[in-house]
Amino acid sequence: MLLLPLLLLGVILPGGDNEDVFQGPTSFHLKQISTFVNSTWAQNLGSGWLDDLQIHGWESDSGTAIFLKPWSKGNFSDEEITELVDLFRVYLIGFIREVQDRVNEFQLEYPFVIQVIEGCELHSGEAIESSLRGALGGLDVLRIQNHSCMPAPDSGNRGQKLCALLSQYQGTSDIIERLISETCPRYLLGVLDAGKAELQRQVKPEAWLSSGPPPGPGRLLLVCHVSGFYPKPVQVMWMRGKQEQLGTQQGDIMPNADWTWYLRVTLNVAAGEAAGLSCRVKHSSLGDQDIILYWGHPTSIGLILVAIIVPSLILSICLALWFWRRWSYQNIL
Ligand SMILES: *[C@@H]1O[C@H](CO)[C@@H](O)[C@H](O)[C@H]1NC(C)=O
Repeated sequence: MLLLPLLLLGVILPGGDNEDVFQGPTSFHLKQISTFVNSTWAQNLGSGWLDDLQIHGWESDSGTAIFLKPWSKGNFSDEEITELVDLFRVYLIGFIREVQDRVNEFQLEYPFVIQVIEGCELHSGEAIESSLRGALGGLDVLRIQNHSCMPAPDSGNRGQKLCALLSQYQGTSDIIERLISETCPRYLLGVLDAGKAELQRQVKPEAWLSSGPPPGPGRLLLVCHVSGFYPKPVQVMWMRGKQEQLGTQQGDIMPNADWTWYLRVTLNVAAGEAAGLSCRVKHSSLGDQDIILYWGHPTSIGLILVAIIVPSLILSICLALWFWRRWSYQNIL
């Protein structure tokens, strides 16, 4: 069983240790968010992710999986997928029932949310680490890894009680263990291969500058927008010549709808010091041709002038024509 993943690994990662060659995601996780509103009303949300790219959804009313990409099934057969989907459907229904039955035992108070994230990831192209984490309202409760259940340090006695409970359900524990440490790695390697044209593509960013709301009197907020790039790692810096500006503030990298990313990087400067600053973008799709945009560069001033002058000219001509026609009518009357 171990041989297959290792063989596949050899295909995906020539040389095994060459991380530069392998761009794109390295983990697969299933996320379950179960919301318990009151004693009779609860709902499951399910999804499947390669790092932060969603490839599966879950239709909770009918209990079926949604495959968001043509290659979302990886190299699993339709039969195997059907078996897994059936397993998750039964599990999710059972999960809600079990929790509702144990609300008092675990001193839970409606409404509450339980999150479960389970999956596996490649580490430096070699080992595969598998785990399951359970949380209540965003706070970790337990972690299952390497055949053992570990209560989270801050979970009070809930984590301990839950691990003790799980140890009584040998069948369930075995299924979880098999899913995370056997099925998941096999699926991960298959799906990374099936989707590699999309997962390992390189898309160049577009970049542009703007000014944000002034941070204070006599100060400017320079904003460098970088959008449409893939994969996610990117380096964006405000520079003066070759000097990186330490005040550079980086926002979160946000998803665009088309599986590319957007980033906004700002610099708060005195208005007089903005000239000569530039925004530098480094990204794998650009090779060593960094994008460099200069603040107040002549072309952008030129564009602004054109944007102001052309409409003013048109307006002036219209006014002139109008006056001229009025004048001619008055002459006729
Ligand atoms: C439970 O919550 C649902 C949805 O908010 C509501 O429609 C229902 O009446 C509630 N039931 C009880 C017993 O409070």
